[in-house]
Amino acid sequence: MTEAAVAPKATPTLPDAQTVTEVKHWTDRLFSFKVSRPASLRFRSGEFVMIGLMGDVNEKTGKAKPIMRAYSIASPSWAEEMEFYSIKVEDGPLTSRLQHIEPGDEIILRPKPVGTLVHDALVPGKRIWFFATGTGFAPFASLLREPETYEKFDEVIITHTCREAGELTYGRELIESLKDDELLNEVIGEGFWKKIKYYPTTTREESAKMGRITDLMKSGEAFKDLGVAPMNPEEDRAMICGNLAFNLELKDMFENTYGLEEGANSKPAHFVVEKAFLD
Ligand code: A2P
Repeated sequence: MTEAAVAPKATPTLPDAQTVTEVKHWTDRLFSFKVSRPASLRFRSGEFVMIGLMGDVNEKTGKAKPIMRAYSIASPSWAEEMEFYSIKVEDGPLTSRLQHIEPGDEIILRPKPVGTLVHDALVPGKRIWFFATGTGFAPFASLLREPETYEKFDEVIITHTCREAGELTYGRELIESLKDDELLNEVIGEGFWKKIKYYPTTTREESAKMGRITDLMKSGEAFKDLGVAPMNPEEDRAMICGNLAFNLELKDMFENTYGLEEGANSKPAHFVVEKAFLD
């Protein structure tokens, strides 16, 4: 018998399979993971793809169907691996299983990136705001590592509202890591990270800044803390990614209080919205 013949049979791979290379659990409700990047996949920082796992075999048909969900890509367009940031839902069809993946496992990744949270959908401005709640931070983890963000804007403000302080850790560590980002330091110049203002808030646990970002803007407190004028169409551009109520409330504030206009890939304007894709 030849050596090849005794080698274990290769496990059948999933359609569009990618291999998990790293998993980090941030809280009992949040985790992030990295998978290999399909060689031909090109995407713009801020876009999302469909990812998933095979479901159970249906007793009647004898077949299994993939369970797929839209996930924002948290890694930048130039990275070798693809990163994702996810909630864990105990009875969620996908995340109840996805939360148990380990390096070496396979997931399905459909290589068709799309999305509105892209630089192409915004006209130039002085300052870009990224507004996130919970796992809505993911596309901004991509855009904060994208050189275009700093080429296009003088100031970058990232606000992140979460229920508890522990839910801010992924974002905080990512922002801290930017100082040592070789590519950004090389392409944008040392000290690029000084353009960033980080404004984390919590709503259900004590932290340095309490309250919903929407309320902190309405009272003027957020602008005062950040040392900037209230948003205006001449200077400010924004991207929103959070739960549905948050997205709608901010969109309403932008349009009716600050006079900003919603943009799209086909018609760039002042702000763009996407909802966080929950299980
Ligand atoms: P709150 O605790 O006051 O509901 P969730 O986990 O429910 O998606 O919420 C994530 C964070 O977003 C929470 O801090 C929550 O605050 C906040 N949030 C929910 N809805 C809104 C909204 N309409 N405007 C601003 N923040 C919101």
